[in-house]
Amino acid sequence: MKPPLVVGNWKMHGTQSQAVALARDVRRGLRRSRKVQVVLTPPFTALAPVGKIVRGSSLCLAAQNIHWEEQGAFTGEISPEMLRELGCRFVIIGHSERRHIFGETDKTIARKLAACLRSGLRPILCVGETLEERIKGKTTRVITRQLRVALKGVVKGAIEKIEIAYEPVWAIGTGRNATPGQISRVHAMIRRRLKKLFGTRPAGQARILYGGSVRPENTGELASVKEVNGLLVGGASLKAKDFISIVAIFSRS
Ligand code: PGA
Repeated sequence: MKPPLVVGNWKMHGTQSQAVALARDVRRGLRRSRKVQVVLTPPFTALAPVGKIVRGSSLCLAAQNIHWEEQGAFTGEISPEMLRELGCRFVIIGHSERRHIFGETDKTIARKLAACLRSGLRPILCVGETLEERIKGKTTRVITRQLRVALKGVVKGAIEKIEIAYEPVWAIGTGRNATPGQISRVHAMIRRRLKKLFGTRPAGQARILYGGSVRPENTGELASVKEVNGLLVGGASLKAKDFISIVAIFSRS
């Protein structure tokens, strides 16, 4: 199995100078941590300067979104090649804010995921149910559909290049994380789906991350869930001290 993965998703926070300061602090604080792969995901406008800071360190750079075409008349969009040139290695795909605020569908997410794989970027595919879907007992159905559509057309071996993030929508930015029991059930279900789609061995290689109100205080508990192979951190990744603690706690457990 690959090392665990901890991703900081900065969302639409930080000017270039703020992002640079944060990246510097994180780099300094994580000098000794090797057991966990750490990824920083600044806004597009800060990718270039943050890319320079992570170069030569154990940190990796990621983008928060991507367009599936290589170039063309797509006002406001960013191509895979543009991201690669800036040093990105990962891209977050299908984050719930993209799905629910900007109307991204499973189909557009599938195109983005395919574009990542074509261009050598590692997609971090986010899936997760809303509170209403959970209450109505639709969690498995929703996530199964999200996985099936997004991964349609992905060849068997390519699953090793994909990271999956389970992010229950009701846990994002709410201060209310899912319980270890809820997480372990969903992660086990995702793993079973992947095995069905891609075979036991390749599917065993995909990392399944948890995201939603991760903080230093709950990291130990979340990291102890057997099926959690990493974390996707939003709000707490904006404070270098908290993010460094999260990585440190995860690498100890
Ligand atoms: P949060 O966000 O940690 O602020 O809940 C997680 C995410 O949106 O990836």
